[in-house]
Amino acid sequence: MADKFSRIGFILAVAGSAVGLGNAWKFPTMVGNNGGSAFIALYLLLTFAIAFIAFLAELAIGRLGETDLVGCFYKLAPKHKRAWSLAGFFSISAILIASFYMVVIGWLVYYIFLSFTGLPATPEASGASFERIISADATSALICFSFVFVIVFFTVSKGIKSGIERLNVFMMPSLFILLCVLFAYSLSMGGGFLKAAEFLFVPDFSKITPHLVLEALGLAFFSLSMGTGTIPTYAASLDERTNLVRSTLSIIFINILIGIMMGLIVFTFIFDAGFDSTQGGPGLIFVSLALLFAKLGVVGQVLAVCFFTALLFAGVTSAVSMIEPFAFYLINKFNITRKSALLIIGVVVYVLGIFCVFSFYKPTSESFSLFGKPIFDILDALTSTLLMPLGALSFSIFVGYVLKKDTLWGLFSGFMSRVGFNVWYFALRYIVPLGIVAIMLYKFKS
Ligand code: PFF
Repeated sequence: MADKFSRIGFILAVAGSAVGLGNAWKFPTMVGNNGGSAFIALYLLLTFAIAFIAFLAELAIGRLGETDLVGCFYKLAPKHKRAWSLAGFFSISAILIASFYMVVIGWLVYYIFLSFTGLPATPEASGASFERIISADATSALICFSFVFVIVFFTVSKGIKSGIERLNVFMMPSLFILLCVLFAYSLSMGGGFLKAAEFLFVPDFSKITPHLVLEALGLAFFSLSMGTGTIPTYAASLDERTNLVRSTLSIIFINILIGIMMGLIVFTFIFDAGFDSTQGGPGLIFVSLALLFAKLGVVGQVLAVCFFTALLFAGVTSAVSMIEPFAFYLINKFNITRKSALLIIGVVVYVLGIFCVFSFYKPTSESFSLFGKPIFDILDALTSTLLMPLGALSFSIFVGYVLKKDTLWGLFSGFMSRVGFNVWYFALRYIVPLGIVAIMLYKFKS
């Protein structure tokens, strides 16, 4: 395959997939509300004990199969090839995620526009402007969603090297620079910054409950884009000499670093303005921060543009990684061009995205609901509670129980000691599946 990532391109692309909207509000809000550094310690423990192990298994599928996800299962399964290749269709869940995820990125575009034209200056106006883009101004929501759609599909249409790698090589460092600017500004805010650091880092072990352990594990999987085929698909375009273990550690490090930077920035602003820290979700970003930026005058405008652009970059690099896996499958399976594959996927994502916008838009919300819930929420729940964990479970069972241990040792021997490999293999077979089943049962119950 000629279209391969460079080593740094691969790390940036996978980190680009991992660092996304989840880092902007899920990670900081969960850390802040659930025991500060005690939660970070728990998150790190689960990331290394479970997510890291499963992540290496996903890389193994792509590196050994060297093709699209369905093809990898077909090629690598010693028997029941057809049945196993069905696991490759978990890449469809990434398409479903893309359709609602890109609607949210569209809201960021709307806020970048507002940063230039005037952000809402009172709490009521700020709440109202978020309400407007979600439920009252479908035209703007559709335009912003379409804009994101074009950027994402244009990038994927250029392929791995001149599309996806190039986008990430530009956007990831830019995201980091923008965050450094915002971080420097938060440091200068003194009191707010100290409060944010205390909120995020002072450990409170009493808040760690079994329920939180599962929440943290779910977050680790979502944040590392697992169970959707993104990791194996990117790994299939990786050159053989890349150190899989070291790359994974770099990706995890970048993901956590950016989560913590976002957390410090967001909460410094929030505390400085005297807002409620327990309010999580998009409201934290779109309502509270937008209001604060408006109060800071021209400096606030600059900060707002930096902040929403940084989030836009984080979101776009993740969205791109959701489209590539299934596109790669269509191209290989039906021998069609990249453009035709993207046309097929594009129609599905665009239609579902429009459904998502209309499911929040007041006049049409009822018609675009299923079981009394907006289609947006249904897609979110279906993917995060069912499809992603099931995908991750099938991938780890396949590597742990179906692939030969010797084949895996052949792949990893250059990057780990024999003892390290045995520990990884044991954890993959016994700890990872248990962890994933526990998250699923828990999510179903709640
Ligand atoms: N990891 C991304 C985030 O934290 O926002 C979300 C994500 C990306 C999920 C790619 C799934 C995926 F395939």
